[in-house]
Amino acid sequence: MLFSPYPKTKREELFDRDKELRELKEAVERGERLILLLGLRRLGKSSLLNVALNELTYPSIKVDVRKTYSELSSVNRYVIGKMLLSGMSGRKKLVEEAKLFLERVKGVSVSGLRLEITSKDFSITELLEALNEYGEKAGRVVIAFDEAQYLRFGGATRYDGILAYAIDNLENLTFILTGSEVGLLFDFLKFNDPEAPLFGRYHHDIALERFNPDLSREFLRMGFEETKFKVTEREIEGAVEELDGIPGWLSLYGYIRITRKLGHNEAMEEVLREAKAIAGNELSRLFNYSPRYRFILKAIALNYSRWKDIRDYLSLKLGPVNDSNFSALLENLVKAGYVEKKGGRYLIPDPVLAKVFREL
Ligand SMILES: Nc1ncnc2c1ncn2[C@@H]1O[C@H](COP(=O)(O)OP(=O)(O)O)[C@@H](O)[C@H]1O
Ligand SMILES: [Mg+2]
Repeated sequence: MLFSPYPKTKREELFDRDKELRELKEAVERGERLILLLGLRRLGKSSLLNVALNELTYPSIKVDVRKTYSELSSVNRYVIGKMLLSGMSGRKKLVEEAKLFLERVKGVSVSGLRLEITSKDFSITELLEALNEYGEKAGRVVIAFDEAQYLRFGGATRYDGILAYAIDNLENLTFILTGSEVGLLFDFLKFNDPEAPLFGRYHHDIALERFNPDLSREFLRMGFEETKFKVTEREIEGAVEELDGIPGWLSLYGYIRITRKLGHNEAMEEVLREAKAIAGNELSRLFNYSPRYRFILKAIALNYSRWKDIRDYLSLKLGPVNDSNFSALLENLVKAGYVEKKGGRYLIPDPVLAKVFREL
């Protein structure tokens, strides 16, 4: 279903994105080793990744790094190693073909179709080397890290160094990294830092944009048409005006209308309620870290767009704030994608979140 509220996996559930899907698949087929899939939350990065991995004939392993980090509070080498292995476990063809190579990795055991880490000697690099050998046989192995900026919490495991080694030496591997928090992802990868392991490495960036208004309307029409749910053009127009071209919000709106048989206004309120819950979840870590984030977001959502006006609003609410501290907090929000800086002004790029932030 076009409006299903989960990341898509099949081509027929993915609206548009032909160009990006082709670009991603062609980059893998060309043998590129590092591909970045970038864009705000809810634009469809995970969906596009899933569909691409499904359509490519190469074996692939995907790790949801954000989920892993939030569930296990760590992404050290054992954790990521475990996720890579469990991403392969149970896949008959893959395990049977790769078994020969994986058995040789220290600290990895293969029993039946199950792969496990069995000792402290385990090294990610060795696992990647084994997958590279398998990739020589299979044509290539694709390793995807969804929301890869969370790899920065590896502690003693330095994923930037591991990636650099793999990209330079393991020619049969392709890494696809997605990131909603684009600034944080680039901070972690440090392509421009001469001291950093990935300095100057080639990476193919694919940036997802929101749908333009025509496409957004078309998406809604198609999704409603699919289940023969009747809506008016005015409602479609209204939804696109409020939700913009963000596929995650558009599909949530459609899903709620169809499954709960709600009218336009009620569905819109539901979307906002959901957005509040989602935002609360996503932002709680940030707000725990500093309550100032809350008021900075609120100020920008209330259309204070200049550095100084935002700072003044914040000082009014929470007392005086040191300029460089304030700048650092604001910059963090930009890096995390909640705030965008355009022509010297700050704004909230997601209109639904902007509404939520106004009430913070
Ligand atoms: N092109 C698309 N066609 C249909 N639904 C989409 C599309 N892109 C995103 N969605 C829907 O929007 C929501 C967010 O998509 P997701 O892939 O999780 O985005 P991201 O990973 O960028 O945060 C999901 O419910 C997904 O089904
Ligand atoms: Mg995602």
